[in-house]
Amino acid sequence: GSTSRFQICCIGAGYVGGPTMAIIAKKCPTIDVTVVDISQRRIDAWNSEADLPIYEPGLKEAVMNTRGKNLFFSTDIDGAIEKAHMIFVAVNTPTKKDGLGAGRAADLTYWELAARRIAKVAKSPKIIVEKSTVPIKTAEAILTVLNASGKTRFQVLSNPEFLAEGTAVRDLESPDRILIGGNLKDEDGTAAVEKLVDIYSHWVPRERIITTNVWSSELSKLVANFFLAQRVSSINAVSALCESSGADVDEVSTAVGLDSRIGSKFLKASVGFGGSCFQKDILNLVYLSESMGLKDIAEYFHWVVKMNDLQKERFVSRIIHGLFNTVTGKRIAILGFAFKKDTGDTRESAAISVCQRLVDERAHLDIYDPKVEESQIWQDISTASKMDRLELEKLIHISSSPYGAAQGSHALVVCTEWDEFQDLDFEKILSIMEKPAFIFDGRNILNHEYLRKLGFVVYAIGKPLDPRLNVV
Ligand code: UDX
Ligand code: UDX
Ligand code: ADP
Repeated sequence: GSTSRFQICCIGAGYVGGPTMAIIAKKCPTIDVTVVDISQRRIDAWNSEADLPIYEPGLKEAVMNTRGKNLFFSTDIDGAIEKAHMIFVAVNTPTKKDGLGAGRAADLTYWELAARRIAKVAKSPKIIVEKSTVPIKTAEAILTVLNASGKTRFQVLSNPEFLAEGTAVRDLESPDRILIGGNLKDEDGTAAVEKLVDIYSHWVPRERIITTNVWSSELSKLVANFFLAQRVSSINAVSALCESSGADVDEVSTAVGLDSRIGSKFLKASVGFGGSCFQKDILNLVYLSESMGLKDIAEYFHWVVKMNDLQKERFVSRIIHGLFNTVTGKRIAILGFAFKKDTGDTRESAAISVCQRLVDERAHLDIYDPKVEESQIWQDISTASKMDRLELEKLIHISSSPYGAAQGSHALVVCTEWDEFQDLDFEKILSIMEKPAFIFDGRNILNHEYLRKLGFVVYAIGKPLDPRLNVV
């Protein structure tokens, strides 16, 4: 019967909880996995026959093959907590908007609510697993909340998730490493860690499963994202130098990346990194350092985010200066709005800042993205802009094709590296644009030489400047 089977509960059915639990269910047929969420709509979507709430290659198959067998989605949070042996917490932890640490510290409201719920409902010992990225020492704080009820015993483990959007299933099925932090000095703590190691051992080679103390594990997640983002900010800093010196940033990153100590990944210059994690985790690290009195260390971390903001601003100023120092009243086509290709996610997307800045300058934008919902684009720009919706509607139009967006425009601005942008009919696009026709390639994905031969004036990140481009 189901009561003798090992029971996992996951609180939070989002980008992290959903895919992670689907893969655990797929790889561990003898374990029952119940994913719960406060959002009925989210749960209904996970239970639907049509589209799941998240698109990831391979995810639908994994869910369809396990759902109703050993994978369940439900809003009965208390019921799932009660019967679980192990509870993953994968709720969102956004950056705090107000109060102490606003704009830097993580907002742990959702985490704490989940913990209080567990404390209230649990009658038998449970292993709690932190999946959400949380500031270091959270496990300790959570344990205090849990143990305050005094009803039963808890172990809290840290088990950060390193999956990237668009490759979630691949990242989960063959991870570089699994990191588990726990209280290894204590017998119960060690047993809890071993239990989680057992689960991952169903499909992950044992040598890739690393166990550490809780703080190392919590910190490693923040540091991993810092290192990745740092590489992007570093190459973006180099891109500015390239434009002024005549060097080519792609040539530089190839040459640098071939050093095996450096490696070639995450060295692609761009208009700026986005996504739900990088900025949030780095600001978290900044806050953490500041609160420990490490002001200079905090500043060092902070520069990775500042450099990213500068890169977005530098790109926008290239557009404005390129278009003869004013974009007021000019039509600009924005190609791509997602924070990277192959996702409909726009969280912290560079496109949001670029659009907001251009709208500030009273440019008329026509935006096209193959995957992002129209309502999402409106919401993102409204949130970022000081203008109200009525004003914005006079300046922004959203098109369902790149050609629609390009029609009558002075410039094409590439914000996301969608593959389909490389295959556009640029002769046709040139013919429907105002002249001189400009292209600002924020992702270096187009064939710039070919475009210049056609007659476009092209700006690309970190490339020798087009002599026809107005620069200051
Ligand atoms: C370096 C470059 O490695 C080499 O490619 C370049 O041509 C010249 O500069 P080198 O100065 O001989 O070579 O020493 P290297 O082994 O790179 O170490 C440089 C310094 O960094 C040393 O003081 C080393 O102790 C320190 N280091 C290196 C660390 O503190 N931590 C590390 O993880 C690596
Ligand atoms: C990231 C981490 O990769 C993942 O391990 C962590 O769990 C969550 O955060 P994700 O946000 O999905 O994943 O996207 P990622 O592929 O890392 O890209 C982040 C941003 O950096 C994107 O905007 C991307 O376009 C940009 N980027 C990435 C560059 O501009 N240049 C690069 O070379 C690499
Ligand atoms: P992440 O990218 O970290 O997975 P998401 O926002 O995609 O973040 O998912 C977090 C999910 O957690 C959301 O679906 C949200 O409704 C859910 N959630 C937040 N707080 C709670 C809670 N206290 N109990 C249950 N679910 C929660």
